[in-house]
Amino acid sequence: MTADEIRSSYIEFFITQGHKEIPPAPIVPPDDPTTLFTSSGMQQLVPFLKGQEHPMGIRLVNSQPCFRAEDIEEIGDNRHTTFFEMLGNWSLGDYFKNEQLPWFFEFLTDKINLDPSRLYVSVFDGDANVPKDEESINIWQEIFKTNVPVRQGSDGFDPKVKIYSYSAEKNWWSRAGMPQNMPPGEIGGPDSEVFFDFGAECKMHENSSYKDESCHLNCECGRFLEIGNSVFMQYEKQKDGSFKPLPNKNVDFGGGLERITAASQNTPDVFQTDLFLPIIEKIIQATNKEFKGEFKQPMRVIADHIRGATIMISQGTVPSNKMQGYFVRRLLRRTVVKMRTIKAQNAEETLVKSAEAVLEMFDGLYFKKAEVAKSVKNSISEETKKFSTSLNKGLLEIEKKNPSEINAKFVFDLYQTHGFPLELTQELLAEKGIKIEKKQFEKEFNRHKEKSRTGAAGMFKGGLADKSEETIRLHTATHLLQKALRVVLGNHIRQEGSHITAERLRFDFSHQKALSAEEVKKVEHLINQKIKENLPVHKTFEEKEKALKSGAMAFFKETYPDKVSVFTIGKDPEKDWFSKELCGGPHVKSTGEIGRVRIVKQQSVGSGIRRVYASLQ
Ligand code: ALA
Repeated sequence: MTADEIRSSYIEFFITQGHKEIPPAPIVPPDDPTTLFTSSGMQQLVPFLKGQEHPMGIRLVNSQPCFRAEDIEEIGDNRHTTFFEMLGNWSLGDYFKNEQLPWFFEFLTDKINLDPSRLYVSVFDGDANVPKDEESINIWQEIFKTNVPVRQGSDGFDPKVKIYSYSAEKNWWSRAGMPQNMPPGEIGGPDSEVFFDFGAECKMHENSSYKDESCHLNCECGRFLEIGNSVFMQYEKQKDGSFKPLPNKNVDFGGGLERITAASQNTPDVFQTDLFLPIIEKIIQATNKEFKGEFKQPMRVIADHIRGATIMISQGTVPSNKMQGYFVRRLLRRTVVKMRTIKAQNAEETLVKSAEAVLEMFDGLYFKKAEVAKSVKNSISEETKKFSTSLNKGLLEIEKKNPSEINAKFVFDLYQTHGFPLELTQELLAEKGIKIEKKQFEKEFNRHKEKSRTGAAGMFKGGLADKSEETIRLHTATHLLQKALRVVLGNHIRQEGSHITAERLRFDFSHQKALSAEEVKKVEHLINQKIKENLPVHKTFEEKEKALKSGAMAFFKETYPDKVSVFTIGKDPEKDWFSKELCGGPHVKSTGEIGRVRIVKQQSVGSGIRRVYASLQ
């Protein structure tokens, strides 16, 4: 059956069982700041699983587009995808195990004709909080008409045994995973999974004389593909770590359409199903490369990522450096990199064509092609073109560099200036026999993060909200204020923070007590006197040490570069000045431009730190 047929047949089957089809949630959940993406069908149903009444009833079904960002590095094998469609059905306190398990089995064997002899199931083995799921075991035994005892998962596989039990690591589901990882308030429960046996010989234990014995349902070899998961959503984790039964016994079922389709089309490779083949075919056509051997992995990545990016952009999440947009950017950059891996030149053209296949495939389902095609294609074209250029520039830099000088800092610079992901640079350097470890890169990355944090703090010294004329005037006034505070209150005054808008300046500084009315007046007077003198403002570049020695004030002085820009207010920047600060500017040319300054408010902002607000009159 085609994937389209399977999707419709699933929804139809559950409608026949009294379910209502609910619309899928957007892939970027609009009202949930705790998560970036919709990664399972139940996400939009959490309040209802907790007991709230759902407007569409207590039996629900849909097909939900999902994105699992955490799987991005795993893409390339036969079964992982970042984007996938989850077929889901839910009972909100209505039916339970007795209906759910036979229904799903009926769907698999009657509706899409999977061979029952190739189906195996797993159930929860029990732990200190929740007992072994004997109920499900009995139901499955009835379904398979078998009295063969249940096998422990780790015992290995025996084709005669249909039911296996596993611990919470495998047979407990919550959005946070195992019971111990769930935060208070999170819901979860034991689950029962169905696996399809592709029969491929397990390669994980090639040296074992008991090949089949050591292979088991959850073995990484890929022989068994999990095609559906019925979660018995019954518990809410409490603050004290215990599990309280929810008001209702719910069912939360989810099955990956890609995997069910793979079983139906009898290929263990989801990329060889009709959900991916049209995309792979576009890649083959555009690049003249074959989907085999070492090209399989990169082509799968391209197909997966272009699918994810297309869906995401169709719903308005475009490539950017922030939040979800960053993932779209990452997906697209990785496709460009993989195009290079398969030695294809025309990344942009190939990727836009691949996106067309995705647009075709989902037209009328998750979007209307006519409405989104243009923006999707433009966005993909722009991003991949830009990154292709960066890629070429970065490649040139690598070529130019003496191999003995290539180190983690160089790799980080490539990431920083050209957006080169580490794995890309590693791949390129490996061609030259150079190895850079992830750890070294991360060290460089953290060093930079540290720097930019203090750099940001340094910028905050200027603390300008914008660069309007008023803001600039207030910025120079802030320098006068800091010096005036020192003159009036003493040399212990140090800047602790500053923020300037067109309306006012705000300045935080170290001082133990509130300023008296007298002190405020003195500070104000000194500032306005220096304004009246219309002193010139000089900008110079100096060695940091020299500038500090000459009495320049600094904020977080240890993080400035060796050569600094200095603003000096006074008749002579060498000999006769009032204020001198390490600062990036901008400032007025002479103090007369500022006008009159008035301190409007002062307050304490924590131990030993005072804050004043001042504005122009
Ligand atoms: N919510 C369950 C899952 O994602 C069905 O596997």
